[in-house]
Amino acid sequence: MGKNLIFEPLEFRHLTVKNRIFRSSVTGRWDNYDGSGTQARVNWENKFAKGGVGAIISSYVPVSIKGRITPNVVTIDSDERIPFWHTVGETVHRYGCKYIIQLSHSGRQRDIEGIENTRTLRNRIEPIPAPSTTNEPDQINGLPANNMSISEIKEIIGQFAAGAFRAKEAGLDGIELHSSHGYLINQFLSSAINRRRDEYGGELKNRYRFLQEIVQAIRKVVGDDFHLQAKISVREFNNIIPPWQKSGNTIEESIQICQWLEEDGVDALHISRGSTFPHPLLPSGPFPFRMFRYTYDTMTSSGGKSSFRNVIFFRYRFLHPLFQLIWGRLPRKVERSYEQPISGLEIKDEWLDEYFREHVSTEDFQKLLNRHQGTVLKDAKEIKQNLKEIPIITTGGFQQASYINNAIEAGYTDGVTMARTLVANNDLVQKFQEGMDIAPKPCNYCNECLGAYLELPLGCYNVDRFYQSSIKNLTTEQKDKTIREAEQARTREVMSVFDPPPKPYVP
Ligand SMILES: Cc1cc2nc3c(=O)[nH]c(=O)nc-3n(C[C@H](O)[C@H](O)[C@H](O)COP(=O)(O)O)c2cc1C
Ligand code: SF4
Repeated sequence: MGKNLIFEPLEFRHLTVKNRIFRSSVTGRWDNYDGSGTQARVNWENKFAKGGVGAIISSYVPVSIKGRITPNVVTIDSDERIPFWHTVGETVHRYGCKYIIQLSHSGRQRDIEGIENTRTLRNRIEPIPAPSTTNEPDQINGLPANNMSISEIKEIIGQFAAGAFRAKEAGLDGIELHSSHGYLINQFLSSAINRRRDEYGGELKNRYRFLQEIVQAIRKVVGDDFHLQAKISVREFNNIIPPWQKSGNTIEESIQICQWLEEDGVDALHISRGSTFPHPLLPSGPFPFRMFRYTYDTMTSSGGKSSFRNVIFFRYRFLHPLFQLIWGRLPRKVERSYEQPISGLEIKDEWLDEYFREHVSTEDFQKLLNRHQGTVLKDAKEIKQNLKEIPIITTGGFQQASYINNAIEAGYTDGVTMARTLVANNDLVQKFQEGMDIAPKPCNYCNECLGAYLELPLGCYNVDRFYQSSIKNLTTEQKDKTIREAEQARTREVMSVFDPPPKPYVP
């Protein structure tokens, strides 16, 4: 490896991060139903700060109850939340780690609305359609949407600004706008989703207006010197279900959006892709049927028109190939023509844990890396080359030190963000510091964690990573026992987020 750029500080206009690795947002449902935070979230963030990342980008934080994606996620919709966020910030600061809060509004992608967002109609409790830029439901779950009024738009802009003000009051280090992955801001930006015919719809400048007004409103309350970044899906690939839908914003349109954001005073851009979440291309990897079979039923009560259909698809194995045919279409098309722009060091047997290799061989893991690492890098470079001065950070499969170094050195990105790969190895940055190029038990992009988040505590659910002995040459009974032990080790690791436990409330 040449110069080690990973550990060089990244200087934004108003924020310095000690290294080039950011924890990307990963949502876990471990807060209270009313949107107040819990010790588990503090513990969760603590793991990554302790593990050496330069900055943590929180999971999505709703600016209002109307705009949450699921209940049991801490919000920033009232001043009462400031002390909790202060505790989170203080916790990670002890390790010299910065904390960037991701302000978010679900729009129509409100997976589980919660009782506050329901009404009783014809003796049925059902969700009130979520504010959006269209009346069309989302394409994956069929979640109901309502093309909102101008006064609702202004109200939500105010909620983003109020959230930003509270974040600054809480002593956090910056804000990320969740303007990607099909959530509300993306619903405005997207040529495929936005159906408005007024000054917030139609041509690109109009579709950008909502985000621009949010940036302006935030700057008014936090000033010019508080770090503000935006996560953007620079290619939308919206044509999923059905595949003949419009594919959404092009890279040229996204370059323009990013240039406008720079002019409007945003300090950094976080490059991503996909007009829904999840999306067949992000997080990349297989569709986690096994886990969704277990967790997805929780979506049926949320009133999505397609949720029941999906439950059937996920429950019966003989239907999986049919769903996979649709879901896998974009990866087949995009990945077939994708060539890695850079490479990392070739993975050696001895770098990987011997028991992990019994389940994923070095050769197979190398193929996984070639396919899933740096999936958004080429687009990121195009964006970077078209900006004047602000840095970019990029998401998508990063977990190898030599690869990350090369990506930065070759000018594809200024830093990288990691989600699943750090869920698997919270201390990956420390491992890089110790000279490892990859963790001995790396993330193999199986997406089980993605399937888990709807119902289970977030963590790595891939049993292949938790074997403590060989499964070779065992009797069936011994093999079963070894598998059970690995499952138990996985569950212990997942549940470690509850240690230390929340304190009981004693008035
Ligand atoms: C369980 C899970 C939850 C996620 N939650 C969020 C989120 O709240 N906000 C967001 O912008 N991205 C979210 N993401 C996307 C990640 O931040 C990241 O962009 C994506 O997973 C690709 O990075 P990776 O390959 O390192 O996982 C989530 C991903 C996963 C797997
Ligand atoms: S479950 Fe574990 S190995 Fe699978 S994608 Fe998530 S973090 Fe990676």
